[in-house]
Amino acid sequence: MTGRREFLKTGTAAAAALAALAGAREHFFQALAETPPGPATADAYLLDPGVNYLNHGSIGTIPRLVHEAHIRYLRVMETNPWLYMWSEPWTEPTEEVRRRAADLMGVAPGEVALTHNTTEAFNLLAHGLPLGPGDEVLYSSLNHPGASHPWTHMAPVRGFSVRRFDFPVEELAGMSEEEVVEIHLREIRPETRVMVFPHVDNLVGLRHPVAALARGAKAAGVEVVAVDGAQSLSMIPVDLRDSGVDVYAGSPHKWVQAPKGMGVAYLAAHLQERLHPMWVSSGRPGAVGTVRQFEDYGTRNRPAVLTLGSALAFQERMRPTVKEAAHRDRWERIRERVEASSRLRWCSPTEWELSAALYTVEVQGRSAFQVADALWDQHQVTVRPIRIHGVEGLRLSPNHHTAPAEVEAFFRALGA
Ligand SMILES: Cc1ncc(COP(=O)(O)O)c(C=O)c1O
Repeated sequence: MTGRREFLKTGTAAAAALAALAGAREHFFQALAETPPGPATADAYLLDPGVNYLNHGSIGTIPRLVHEAHIRYLRVMETNPWLYMWSEPWTEPTEEVRRRAADLMGVAPGEVALTHNTTEAFNLLAHGLPLGPGDEVLYSSLNHPGASHPWTHMAPVRGFSVRRFDFPVEELAGMSEEEVVEIHLREIRPETRVMVFPHVDNLVGLRHPVAALARGAKAAGVEVVAVDGAQSLSMIPVDLRDSGVDVYAGSPHKWVQAPKGMGVAYLAAHLQERLHPMWVSSGRPGAVGTVRQFEDYGTRNRPAVLTLGSALAFQERMRPTVKEAAHRDRWERIRERVEASSRLRWCSPTEWELSAALYTVEVQGRSAFQVADALWDQHQVTVRPIRIHGVEGLRLSPNHHTAPAEVEAFFRALGA
């Protein structure tokens, strides 16, 4: 019987399959070329105009154009799933997705695995790094459960230990980069092998100084620096070149605005040699010995993978610095309003250089959880209530396309 690959290479079906997918991709790139570059406006998205969406940190929303590309890829797939699921027309486009993700982080495509989310990358590490008794994994209380629990879950199985220290969130006002670095470095002990921290944490939105922290940790004897980029990838500029970072894991369903359940993980070439894959399926030819062995889990959602590429291309139309300026504008507007109020308190960093598009505001004398419920029930405003070391507040994460009017509507709703 003719194998799928041969069938594709020879038959007229091969040409038709290639043409169908190429057509779907071309359609997207043509439409993208017709949209003006720069930050997209609200009408580029599918968000319900009745909802004031200030929670891009929990989950992003996909641009209309990218959503339409996704539907086209799905449609091509469904015309002949057997033919498309494992066949060649998807190979090169998938590698293009890897190249785009690599460009976004300033690394080589051979160092990027296409995963499902950030949590998966930390599970890969906790299962596969050469760690055992006498080795310690270190992180602060700002670390997200998805980057923490894989370690605590595997520690009793593999014999390594985990230590979490409290980050002084109550001292964030006026804190400098040097102080953030020092708070981490002083926790390192001779047995600390792995240090984990978020680039931007999900509670108060502290932008950790990645390179200074990674280099400092390495100089103090840490072997692996693993950064959680769930909140930062495509929110703020990321450049891992010569940063000292060994792993950078991201969840493009947040700020890349890709389909839900798409992840990317930078795994430095030198680390790949020491990382035992968490799972294997086919041992696909060409996967073993490459970064693809860390994404070898059998059948996967190929249309979603290609749509990640479309989402990355969409984001590439906005220069990272331009996008960051839009985030800063929202940050400044909101901070000014908070500081002018006697009932609100800013709980996040006060310097933009240590901040991001995610920040927390305390409503004094009120439970943030009840306020968030009321904002949703009565005003269709989506924010996330958070609590850490006695700080309780509303976490706001507007995006570059959040209109100033939505910020105003949030404060009106809060006043009410
Ligand atoms: C900082 C941070 N890390 C990790 C995660 C987990 O992301 P995922 O569920 O996509 O793995 C999140 C999700 O909100 C997050 O904010």
